[in-house]
Amino acid sequence: MADKAPILHIVSPLRHVSPFDVNMAVDAGYTTILPYSEVKLEEMVDLTQDMMFSRAPDHASRTGLFIGGKDASLALDMAKEAHSALFPPFQISVFVDPAGSFTTAAAMIAEVERKLAGRREGGLKGAKVQVYGATGVVGGIAAVIAAQAGAHVTLVSHRDVDTVRLKAADFKVRFDVDLASAAARDDEGKRALLPEAEIVLACGKAGVQILSAEHLSVARRLLVAADVNAVPPSGIAGVEALDDGKQLAGGALGIGALAIGHLKYRVQHELLKRMRTTDTALNIGFEDAFTLARSLVAA
Ligand SMILES: NC(=O)c1ccc[n+]([C@@H]2O[C@H](COP(=O)([O-])OP(=O)(O)OC[C@H]3O[C@@H](n4cnc5c(N)ncnc54)[C@H](OP(=O)(O)O)[C@@H]3O)[C@@H](O)[C@H]2O)c1
Repeated sequence: MADKAPILHIVSPLRHVSPFDVNMAVDAGYTTILPYSEVKLEEMVDLTQDMMFSRAPDHASRTGLFIGGKDASLALDMAKEAHSALFPPFQISVFVDPAGSFTTAAAMIAEVERKLAGRREGGLKGAKVQVYGATGVVGGIAAVIAAQAGAHVTLVSHRDVDTVRLKAADFKVRFDVDLASAAARDDEGKRALLPEAEIVLACGKAGVQILSAEHLSVARRLLVAADVNAVPPSGIAGVEALDDGKQLAGGALGIGALAIGHLKYRVQHELLKRMRTTDTALNIGFEDAFTLARSLVAA
């Protein structure tokens, strides 16, 4: 095994493969990284077959396929196509993490869960979670992970409710999770929703503040407020990027983007390292990222 170099093929449906992912792969020890951009779903089978046959079967797992992009459902469909091409003994490893969203969402929910410990009986189970920026790739998967952990999740859009309803319907089919939908187009919309929230997840576009101090003042049941936007201003007023459980004015704990980002980095780094060194083919998705994130925050 040692004589065969690990290879990482990074595939994206977008015009550019993410430089972030290339950097992460190098930091995880890959020295051979091939980027493929503007890849179409229908090209995945041929491309995967081209990756899997050149090496002897006992070296196949060291060939890694990383699927990026900015759409969770498309990335998962691309992975499904790739897996449909694989068969023993020519099985390569596959890691899906579009726009870093699977590892980011996993880190976010693991951090939220840790902050809930001792503050809410049952942790995430039954907790009312509102996800702002829910049509985004990070927000959508954070919602799925929270729902799979037993939370009652509402997808909130700043546009119209139909966009998030479509996403909820897609995720019901894919992951068998029930996600409620809501729109909060203005201050009034946010004020109407927030009194119910025990946890808010701000997953909005970089540099956009979604929840102000005035909005938060009506969130009387709020226990944890987590934000992934690292570009000022923060997505939630009063939650700074490095905050890791800072108490906010109303008593809730704030988690900032760099606190989440630090854990996300460790998760993606470790999963890439596992793929680089494995002797058996790996199939890595957001479930694996969440399991690892949970174990890292507990350590
Ligand atoms: N901390 C980390 O480690 C880390 C890692 C990766 C990404 N990120 C950050 O995570 C966030 C989400 O990433 P993404 O790729 O999912 O983001 P995105 O696609 O750029 O935006 C996410 C969502 O933000 C909402 N939005 C857009 N403009 C808005 C506005 N003017 N006001 C309110 N909401 C608006 C939209 O959702 P609705 O239409 O549904 O409202 C959009 O789908 C970004 O800030 C990104 O930089 C952080």
